[in-house]
Amino acid sequence: MDIPILTLDGPSGAGKGTVSRLIAQKLGWHYLDSGAIYRALALEITEKNVADAGIAEIVEVALAMDLVFECGEDRLVKLNGQDITDLLGLESTGNMASKIAAIPEVRAALLQKQHDFKQAPGLVADGRDMGTVVFPEACYKVFLTASALTRAERRYKQLKLKGIDANLSKITADIQERDQRDSERQFSPLIPAADAVYIDSSDLSIQAVVEEVLSLVR
Ligand code: DC
Repeated sequence: MDIPILTLDGPSGAGKGTVSRLIAQKLGWHYLDSGAIYRALALEITEKNVADAGIAEIVEVALAMDLVFECGEDRLVKLNGQDITDLLGLESTGNMASKIAAIPEVRAALLQKQHDFKQAPGLVADGRDMGTVVFPEACYKVFLTASALTRAERRYKQLKLKGIDANLSKITADIQERDQRDSERQFSPLIPAADAVYIDSSDLSIQAVVEEVLSLVR
């Protein structure tokens, strides 16, 4: 039997991560946070000082990464044995990830790591090109978005809750810059798959989005 896949693509801050995790839990399916793979690579090339080196060096690091996602009560991500969970969420990591994600050789090098997540009984895959490039065969596809301001406000609240100093207009500008880079890049740009269901979460609660997506699968 074919393994069912639900893809959730969209810009950062649209709620994909939270929604995908809840749905994967409800369905008992595996969860792929593809952004975390790009983020882990961003950390690794910074650590290894090859961020400004050539594409070949970055690809070599990408292929050698030993990434482990541990699913428990809280999420834990280990890179070459080290816990990088907290570092993954930094704005600087996201921005660097967005830059290296525009390199086609880097995307190709990370493809197998993403395909490895396709396992029974099913997969919820969260990213930018899950429904278009990585899992075009997926039977359920969603494009989840929200206005840039809504996404910036959500991020601002998250940072404030963590006690981190934040500036709403700076966050909005960063989000817009990242959206533009992710949407306008030549390879695997952020675009809805032709067969994706489009959901704007600006005025929806997480629970409402989860219900809407689950109704597609059920
Ligand atoms: O989803 P995220 O914010 O963790 O992703 C970080 C960056 O990684 C994002 O700005 C673009 C890139 N990315 C990508 O190009 N393709 C994916 N499938 C996931 C993330």
